[in-house]
Amino acid sequence: MDYAMSDHPLAGKSVLVTAGPTQEAMDPVRFISNHSSGKMGYAIARAAFVLGAKVHLLSGPVALAQPPYVSFESFTSALELEKLMLKEAPFFDYIIMAAAVGDYRAASIATEKIKKQGDTLTITFQKNPDILAELGKNKQPHQVICGFAMETENLLENAKEKLLKKNADMIIANSLKTAGAGFQGDTNIITMITKEAIEPIEKKSKEELGYLILRKCMKLEEHTC
Ligand code: CTP
Ligand code: CA
Repeated sequence: MDYAMSDHPLAGKSVLVTAGPTQEAMDPVRFISNHSSGKMGYAIARAAFVLGAKVHLLSGPVALAQPPYVSFESFTSALELEKLMLKEAPFFDYIIMAAAVGDYRAASIATEKIKKQGDTLTITFQKNPDILAELGKNKQPHQVICGFAMETENLLENAKEKLLKKNADMIIANSLKTAGAGFQGDTNIITMITKEAIEPIEKKSKEELGYLILRKCMKLEEHTC
């Protein structure tokens, strides 16, 4: 936590963080979502504030208190998040995409409640836009873009592929199958993947990892300047 004790290394910088799950509606009473708690993204937003940045947090539906002194907007679906990101992202120096974005949404949302009928139910889903890839495509010279990869197999290979495919500067890889890592807990075991290096980090609190991730972003920025 050395950075928290020092002066404000992120003073003058702006940090945009997304956190939590998306919810994709199927009808007026149901949605498809995932187990993201938002804890990792919220920890990064808090750390960015402590380090002196201007912080904007975009959050999906989570059971967490809104961090003080951080500007805040909420989203529900991937399309809502995409709209917010396309509007906001160009103005931020660091973009940390910790939100667990649904890959698919219902091809059409029923206007009335879907009634129980046969033994099986088929719903057609349509692919959502890849927001991180869009940001990567439009990356400004001053920006550091960091995404996450939650995997259950081939963690490093898949995460490295995402780094390149989405033109991110860093992917934080974490495995859902490792004890002490993943969605709901207060700790995580991550590997920081950049074009130059693969850096495994031992189990730490999400709070502490928030500082480590930002510190790594600062190093990446030094390299690009
Ligand atoms: N992401 C995004 N938009 C999407 C899906 C994912 O911006 N429609 C972002 C996530 O916020 C995360 C990164 O991309 O920072 C990787 O997400 P992940 O779900 O691990 O990768 P996908 O590319 O969706 O591939 P898959 O789910 O098949 O592993
Ligand atoms: Ca996905």
